[in-house]
Amino acid sequence: MILLSIETSCDETAAAVVRDGREILSSVISSQVDIHAAYGGVVPEIASRKHMESLAPVISQALQDAAVGMEAVEGVVVTRGPGLSGALLVGFSAAKAIAVARKIPFVGVHHIEGHLFAPFLEQPVDFPFLALVVSGGHTHLYHVEGFGHYTTLGRTIDDAAGEAYDKCAKILGMPYPGGHLIDLMAQRGNPDAIRLPRPLLRDGTLNFSFSGLKTAVLQLNMKSPVSIPGQDADDLCASFQEAVCHVLAAKTEAAIRQTGAARLVVAGGVACNSGLRLRMKELCQQLGVELSIPHPSLCGDNAAMLAVPGDYYLSHDIVSPMTLDVTANWDMDRITESSL
Ligand code: KG4
Ligand code: ZN
Repeated sequence: MILLSIETSCDETAAAVVRDGREILSSVISSQVDIHAAYGGVVPEIASRKHMESLAPVISQALQDAAVGMEAVEGVVVTRGPGLSGALLVGFSAAKAIAVARKIPFVGVHHIEGHLFAPFLEQPVDFPFLALVVSGGHTHLYHVEGFGHYTTLGRTIDDAAGEAYDKCAKILGMPYPGGHLIDLMAQRGNPDAIRLPRPLLRDGTLNFSFSGLKTAVLQLNMKSPVSIPGQDADDLCASFQEAVCHVLAAKTEAAIRQTGAARLVVAGGVACNSGLRLRMKELCQQLGVELSIPHPSLCGDNAAMLAVPGDYYLSHDIVSPMTLDVTANWDMDRITESSL
């Protein structure tokens, strides 16, 4: 089955053409990052307007890159939520319009379902598996039994890991989103230079908390501001990265031991992080767990990842009705076939 997938939940307008939920024929991502950077974060109204301008050309480009016409598309998959309502509506309405015009089915999937299954575009993973999703809005540990069967084992109680990275970057005067810049500086710094807190490390749950870490960086920088570029800034970034990765790895290890998981998926934008990738590799080697982390090009927001669950649902006749609406807040545990 050839699917057209569409993603507009935040600040990336993306479309992809994917065959059988496996083979990426094209994947186009138009980022609005430079526009929002001027405001230090995503401005919802601007995001919706930019999606409106970019979506049709992005879809055309995806079809052209895949060398298929719209008549070859057999189904449409789109992010239904969570995300910014106005932004989601642009992609969702377009998906419905294409489905009606072409008389093909469409299905609205959870954005994090896309991230979870991104590694399947390289190599499918056997169920069940444990998943750590780390992005700008999520830091969650899930037990995944199959498509549509997700149990949350732990989650952040405040900031997501990506959010903490971006806030730390902002404190240090770097542009939004600064996660990858902190990562670059961290690679030059000493991770033991500054002892930062490891929030909730020994609280006995699988939950995370990152807002205190950001406050610690803020206080340190207020006391003695670091200048960029410089060794002090590199050391602070390396110490921050060490604290984040330490907590993520410790909670993931606890989840592996608790569930007896044999496989681990790490996904989402922060899965691009060099320190986290290394840490997870070491952890899985030590515990004899099979690790799947997508190539960095598939970790951030893209439309191709949605085609994996989309292909499963549509090929099992799980189709969204035209009356379905977007949902800005949507818990993965509450996904059922009737909620699609
Ligand atoms: O998954 P994603 O593209 O969008 C959401 O669904 O949120 O994740 C974006 C997040 C941003 O917070 C960004 O700063 C972070 O991922 N990020 C990184 C790195 N690359 C992207 N954080 C740390 N290290 C990186 N190398
Ligand atoms: Zn995302």
